[in-house]
Amino acid sequence: MRNRVEVLHGVNFDVLGRRPASHYGGLTLEQLEVQVKRFASELDLTVTFSQTNHEGEYCEALHQTTAEGLILNPGAWTHYSWAIRDALEVTGLPAVEVHLSGVDGREEWRRVSVLRDLCVGSVQGKGVDGYRDALELLKEKLAS
Ligand code: DQA
Repeated sequence: MRNRVEVLHGVNFDVLGRRPASHYGGLTLEQLEVQVKRFASELDLTVTFSQTNHEGEYCEALHQTTAEGLILNPGAWTHYSWAIRDALEVTGLPAVEVHLSGVDGREEWRRVSVLRDLCVGSVQGKGVDGYRDALELLKEKLAS
């Protein structure tokens, strides 16, 4: 049986293709998901996706997940949402935080992540390839 990983996109990812390509690569969310799906099938993982612009819905998606591993890119919520942090803790699942851009090299406020210490890994600044790294890491964790 393939392991199941859920990718949870946060706020403003529905308009990814309209956000600054210099930071986010210029892909639409649909194009990004096609690539992530390809990475997952190469790694023999099953991947599902969700996206919301509502913080409470993001928490509920965490409450309701049936996946075995998580990839979180909560967007700006990363930097201040204690609610999402608490909801992640409730899952008890291995999770990797992913950012398309190199958040640690940007504005001061983006350098803070309220989730990072709950995650088994964190990838940033690698664009869509960061999701491949995250899937590889989760595959390793789920096998051990
Ligand atoms: C982001 C980085 C965040 O600071 C920003 O608010 C985003 C996208 C990234 O993927 O680089 O929405 O999470």
